[in-house]
Amino acid sequence: MNDVTAMPQSAVVVGGTSELAFAVLGELARRRLRSVLLTGRDLDALERAAARLRDLGVATVTTAAHDVCGVDGAPALAAAARSQLGQVDLVLVAAGVLGSSALDALDARGVARTLTTNFTGPAALIAELASVLRAQGTGRIVVLSSVAAVRARRANFVYGSSKAGLDAFCQGLGDALAGSGVAVVVVRPGFVRTAMTAALPSQPLAARPADVGRAVVAGLARGDETIWVPGVLRAVFAVLRIVPRAVWRRLPQ
Ligand SMILES: NC(=O)c1ccc[n+]([C@@H]2O[C@H](COP(=O)([O-])OP(=O)(O)OC[C@H]3O[C@@H](n4cnc5c(N)ncnc54)[C@H](OP(=O)(O)O)[C@@H]3O)[C@@H](O)[C@H]2O)c1
Repeated sequence: MNDVTAMPQSAVVVGGTSELAFAVLGELARRRLRSVLLTGRDLDALERAAARLRDLGVATVTTAAHDVCGVDGAPALAAAARSQLGQVDLVLVAAGVLGSSALDALDARGVARTLTTNFTGPAALIAELASVLRAQGTGRIVVLSSVAAVRARRANFVYGSSKAGLDAFCQGLGDALAGSGVAVVVVRPGFVRTAMTAALPSQPLAARPADVGRAVVAGLARGDETIWVPGVLRAVFAVLRIVPRAVWRRLPQ
């Protein structure tokens, strides 16, 4: 159940080893986060993340194996979240891969894997978890989209298109759920230095994982439906989304 400041006390995390998810959970642990179910592919890494959360004072942290590409496993995971957490206050969706958009490396399997990991798989799981939250009549679904969802760049159009799909799915779901007690929050970070971006050069307006954690919790407190990190990217992308394509494709990628 949300605490008196409307902060979640229980959470299920999709992509439980994500650095950005950990930053959000760390902020919530400083409030009243009590129970967390971390899900993902690597049980050892999930256990390490669970130990770090316990060190931050989260009383009950459990782990479960779940690959978001395995859509058939989504109903069982939703049922496990309900039975382990009781009321599910927060669904935090952080699973994602950068994939490759290099023309010479484009192939059917690689493109399908990126789209399934970033869009189809999470959307299918969100649908199941949204049913759990609807039945409760309360809860929030926080989804890590990206500024890449706003306009696909030639350098990462596979990733960008997958995030665009997930972003649109979550906006529409949030509208469909209006009045149900369930809210969907789309988070659009710019560049953040994490395991995912370790091999990339930094980009303008880069944020740190802790910035994302703070921005998400501040956005939850305000009841925001969309959270940009850093916040100035909202204005930057209001312009970039309407730049003519002939100009857009020439901008530094
Ligand atoms: N870092 C950035 O600059 C940035 C910017 C905007 C948005 N984002 C988004 O933020 C989210 C978190 O990214 P991050 O920066 O925290 O990177 P990260 O530390 O690499 O986290 C990515 C997470 O996705 C999980 N994952 C990958 N494939 C999966 C699958 N098939 N099934 C289940 N889980 C899977 C990884 O788990 P494994 O341990 O199993 O690999 C890991 O927990 C991603 O959705 C990313 O697209 C990141």
